[in-house]
Amino acid sequence: MIVILDFGSQTTQLIARRVRELKVYCEIFPYTVSPAEIKAKNPKGIILSGGPASVHGNGSPSCYKDFFSLDVPVLGICYGMQLLAHASGGKVERAQVREFGHAEIFVETESLLFQGLPKELSVWMSHGDEVKVLPKGFVRLAKSASSLQAAMANVEQKLYGVQFHPEVMHTPQGKEILSNFLFRICAEKGDWEISSFVQREIQHIKEKVGTKKVLCALSGGVDSAVASSLVYQAIGKQLNCIFVDNGLLRHGEEERVKNIFGKKFKEALQTVDARKRFLKKLKGVTHPEKKRKIIGREFIRVFESESKKLGEFNFLVQGTLYPDLIESQSVRGPSAVIKTHHNVGGLPKKMKFSLLEPLKFLFKDEVRLLGKELGLPEEILRRHPFPGPGLAVRVLGELTEQKLETVRLADKIIEEEIRASGLYEKLWQAFAVLLPVRSVGVMGDARTYEQAIAVRAVTSQDAMTADWADLPREVLVKISNRIINEVRGVNRVVYDISSKPPATIEWE
Ligand code: XMP
Repeated sequence: MIVILDFGSQTTQLIARRVRELKVYCEIFPYTVSPAEIKAKNPKGIILSGGPASVHGNGSPSCYKDFFSLDVPVLGICYGMQLLAHASGGKVERAQVREFGHAEIFVETESLLFQGLPKELSVWMSHGDEVKVLPKGFVRLAKSASSLQAAMANVEQKLYGVQFHPEVMHTPQGKEILSNFLFRICAEKGDWEISSFVQREIQHIKEKVGTKKVLCALSGGVDSAVASSLVYQAIGKQLNCIFVDNGLLRHGEEERVKNIFGKKFKEALQTVDARKRFLKKLKGVTHPEKKRKIIGREFIRVFESESKKLGEFNFLVQGTLYPDLIESQSVRGPSAVIKTHHNVGGLPKKMKFSLLEPLKFLFKDEVRLLGKELGLPEEILRRHPFPGPGLAVRVLGELTEQKLETVRLADKIIEEEIRASGLYEKLWQAFAVLLPVRSVGVMGDARTYEQAIAVRAVTSQDAMTADWADLPREVLVKISNRIINEVRGVNRVVYDISSKPPATIEWE
């Protein structure tokens, strides 16, 4: 495996992504981790991420110097290179010419890191400090146009540094550079497959759970589906799944879940009809955050009371993914922004369950591969994401059963037409929003004064940013005609042409 030490860069996660894409297993650790802990992992290489600090800053992040004498190859990226230089006796100073954005670098010295690459490379820079004097034993591998040290190495000790970011798309040959580090310098094999993960994880779950009982909230989404299937494969009937119908789900969701998981989990799957209970709590509530809080709290209550009926449980399965974990405090160092993740709408502070998070080291596409390996249908694995608070955040303002039915039907039409056009997998999400306005229309010879549906369709890589999708006119025509003809009480359909940022994907 490869160890990535995080110094607070926005792109640390991307480094991990690239390494995994090259079929090498890696994990991110906060920079404060001890060399003994890392040594125990027996890594074949260490990558130091970038970061916003300066090595001369007060309390700036630093790692134990021992990392550089573990006899394991090191690649420092940006701040990581400066730290490597500083710790090895070189001189780092504020750069006279700060480099941000595209830059050309010139490879001067032959090395394994740049093997097979042209002498002139286009890279992405983002730094205010520079390595002014190389540490003893290091040579300059490449310089930038402004004559800064763009890459350095102590070949004998296998210590490498690059001032630019090979992990970002804007460095076109970045993947080759990382690949050289992994395969030529660290002697990794690139044979990490999801199937090896399955065997290891099943064993791990078996050992952890023993003869105890495990509970899982199944939502119909990819993550909980894959997590529960993996746990089921490991411990079979010791797993119980609960599916809560809160009345805020998409059309046909309960049947879909029963069809797919009923066969798989048999009597281990309980479905709970909590529609009335949720709607009652949401009556008269218009504020989006209030809606979310009520739904989260209610979910936990239903879940707790249902689980009590099933007896004592020791573990709760969570479909936490690696990006959730990276954004929470557990993986990154203290300098990083903290965002707590929540998969079942916010867990209670005090729980009598321990968490079982079998996907916590995987990225979304790896989870899909794993789901495939476990025999889950494409229908589940390719499903668009659906927010925890469900249709409640797609009926703007107060909820009623009628309004939920309206948006559910419009949503079904949009999904059908998007699938029929072959665009479903190209989009991140496509759905309906019921607006809290009425407008005038004319149907037949009569005046109407009815509701409006907004169609939202976006493309995105990770939901952090999103573009509104440029849907073909004929698809929009079909969606609009069908909604107005088939959904009673709607006389107008509008298309949302806002990107994220400044808008968000959901309207509430
Ligand atoms: P926004 O609206 O913030 O959404 O641009 C980004 C992505 O997250 C989904 N989303 C949620 N998912 N619980 C979830 O599990 C939530 O409360 C929630 N709110 C938004 C949204 O559908 C989009 O994919």
